[in-house]
Amino acid sequence: VPELSIVGLIGGECFGAAAAAALQEADVVIGASRHLAALGPDVGGERVELGGAADALHAAAQRAGDGARVCLVVSGDPGFFGLARLAAARLGSAVRVHPAPSSVSVAFARLSCAWDDAVVVSAHGRPMGHALEAVCVHSKVAVLTGPDQPPEALGRALLAEGGPPRRVAVCSQLGEAGETVWLGDIAGLSQGAFDPLSVVVFQAPEPAQAGMGITWGRPESEFQHRRGMVTKAEVRAVALGKLGIPAAGVLWDVGAGSGSLAIEAARLAPGLRVFAVESDPLDAARLRSNVGDAGVTVVEGRAPEALRNLPDPDRAFVGGGGLTVLDAALARLRPGGRVAATYASLQRAAGAAERLGHLVQVAVSRGARVGPDSGWRLNAENPVFVCWGPDE
Ligand SMILES: C[S@@+](CC[C@H](N)C(=O)[O-])C[C@H]1O[C@@H](n2cnc3c(N)ncnc32)[C@H](O)[C@@H]1O
Repeated sequence: VPELSIVGLIGGECFGAAAAAALQEADVVIGASRHLAALGPDVGGERVELGGAADALHAAAQRAGDGARVCLVVSGDPGFFGLARLAAARLGSAVRVHPAPSSVSVAFARLSCAWDDAVVVSAHGRPMGHALEAVCVHSKVAVLTGPDQPPEALGRALLAEGGPPRRVAVCSQLGEAGETVWLGDIAGLSQGAFDPLSVVVFQAPEPAQAGMGITWGRPESEFQHRRGMVTKAEVRAVALGKLGIPAAGVLWDVGAGSGSLAIEAARLAPGLRVFAVESDPLDAARLRSNVGDAGVTVVEGRAPEALRNLPDPDRAFVGGGGLTVLDAALARLRPGGRVAATYASLQRAAGAAERLGHLVQVAVSRGARVGPDSGWRLNAENPVFVCWGPDE
């Protein structure tokens, strides 16, 4: 079977002696014009300009079949969102792959950032739904963009989705003389005009960068609320712990009341998309004013109907609405997700525990001074049941 070399280039350079030799010895070099233009004049024999993967591969296989030594030049690592998959499927082991560093590797290097924990998605020549979902759910994502979906189109679509708070970097012409790295946020991304062939990196803000310490279970007095309609500080602290707040993803606070849980979750994880659902118009107004700049979307409406247009949750807290709402949240929960709910009623708590698997009673007695010299007594709060699950 005739051999075919696929050589990756970044900034017009290949990596390693074997790649250089394959280029030098080639009778025919096939690739997109920008890759061919980057090669030195001494490289290869005949040059055939073919951008489309399938066409290039077809031509390469044909010429190799005629006995020519053929090199296909592509960007970065051909095995990473590149031609290697298609070539291997068509030609098997007759293909020699010579990778250069991937554009994604170079993009993260420019940001001085590790990327073994990043999710990489391509929106090059395919719909961007997958990329949008990844950016909303994960805290570190790189998206390969192309002419059909340039970086700004991704920005506009994310803004329309309710735009999760993200630091954004658009890395273009990596390794080339015109290399640029733009830094901004999703609003800025949506308004820009970028090179379509870019790597766009999205990162959830760190709590410290957002200027906040890690605190939760703050006193009820910090949230405007209808008398008693606020999750008590100590119960909220336990509920947040049982929920487990991820750095990114979607959280619903259903029957949000003052919004205290939603607001604390958003402050703990600024990369999370938090929706607070409240049906009472007055409570919803108070909730909006409590939210301030915490990054919580207030949804005024009655659950479960009001949940219909929200993205599926990774976490849901059910503070109001009973078991019907709990069932609605569970039905929409994403894989690996978790729900927590609080109840005053033992019957409802038992029903929730049947569904979720865990129940604890939180009985808080707050210490209070009896008088200037008479020491302390305990004021008992009504017990609250916190239920959570399911287990992963
Ligand atoms: C079909 S993918 C190939 C990815 C390639 N295999 C790699 O490892 O970089 C093409 C996409 O890679 C990205 N890309 C390739 N070279 C680039 C460069 N020099 N600067 C920025 N992005 C680049 C762009 O997102 C482009 O749309």
